[in-house]
Amino acid sequence: MLRNVSATRYIEPLRAGGSVPGIVEADDLGTYVVKFTGSAQGRKALVAEVIVGELARALGLRFPELVLVHFDPAVGAHEPHQEVQDLLRASAGLNLGMDYLSGAKDFTPEVAKTFPVDPLEAGRIIWLDALTVNVDRTTHSSNLMIWPTLGVAPPRLWLIDHGAALVFHHRWDASEPEKAYDFRRHALGGHTPDTRAADAELAPKVTEELLRAITAEVPDAWLADEPGFATPDEAREAYVGYLLARARASAAWLPTDFPTREQLAAEDADRAAKTRRGRPDWLKQVPDLHGKPAVEHDGSVHLG
Ligand SMILES: Nc1ncnc2c1ncn2[C@@H]1O[C@H](COP(=O)(O)OP(=O)(O)O)[C@@H](O)[C@H]1O
Ligand SMILES: [Mg+2]
Repeated sequence: MLRNVSATRYIEPLRAGGSVPGIVEADDLGTYVVKFTGSAQGRKALVAEVIVGELARALGLRFPELVLVHFDPAVGAHEPHQEVQDLLRASAGLNLGMDYLSGAKDFTPEVAKTFPVDPLEAGRIIWLDALTVNVDRTTHSSNLMIWPTLGVAPPRLWLIDHGAALVFHHRWDASEPEKAYDFRRHALGGHTPDTRAADAELAPKVTEELLRAITAEVPDAWLADEPGFATPDEAREAYVGYLLARARASAAWLPTDFPTREQLAAEDADRAAKTRRGRPDWLKQVPDLHGKPAVEHDGSVHLG
């Protein structure tokens, strides 16, 4: 069962991701990254976090503890930013916390170049993502962290952020358990993932009993009033049925034959060249910065 804790201090917002989670201290003296029910991603993102995260844990992958966080917006009353205030006020009640991995580093493309990842571990993570149709574990948004980064214990890979998984729950009527998974840009595709061995090991572990136990962890409040379902338990049944059918159909979606990093780099270069060819001559020398400015424009220098 997920433990229940109450927030005692709102420390700061985490603005790296889109959902503005907050670092929060709780009455068990733990520190958590809290995803709020009032965020734009809404409660379905929290449902996905619980189901996919607990599935990851049950399959033996490293995933920080999840807790249910009771949040009183008064705890964050000192927070100066209006948009954070609005988010906290819209999130009174039950929210989702993930144990905060102090000092953890994001698994960026730069880190990925040198961090050794076991091919079977890479295969297991990709298998989980393909099963749960997680569209947010790409090279540029890996939602993987390295921890610990200090001390004597070796740094390891941890999974975080499954809010964008289970994409099928946004359109139940069109959900197909055999659907292929777009894995070409998966964050671990360049680590020679052994997805066949992972499939043989993990598919038999995804049982109806396990899926029932995991969906039972999702609070009723996040499953109530779901169009198409009369009760939260009916919604739970739909998740169990879909994931069980998908696990049994792994031959239809198992990702194999990953492009090499060189192939992906060549595709990127190709795309950039096409973009340049489509530009008028006077723009051809402008570097392709993928929408990012080359340097920060600091307007204040003109104000002195
Ligand atoms: N458990 C954690 N421990 C340490 N840092 C975390 C943890 N969870 C998230 N973060 C940091 O916060 C960022 C945003 O969190 P994430 O769960 O990815 O939210 P979003 O849905 O906004 O992408 C992550 O990229 C990571 O840097
Ligand atoms: Mg994220």
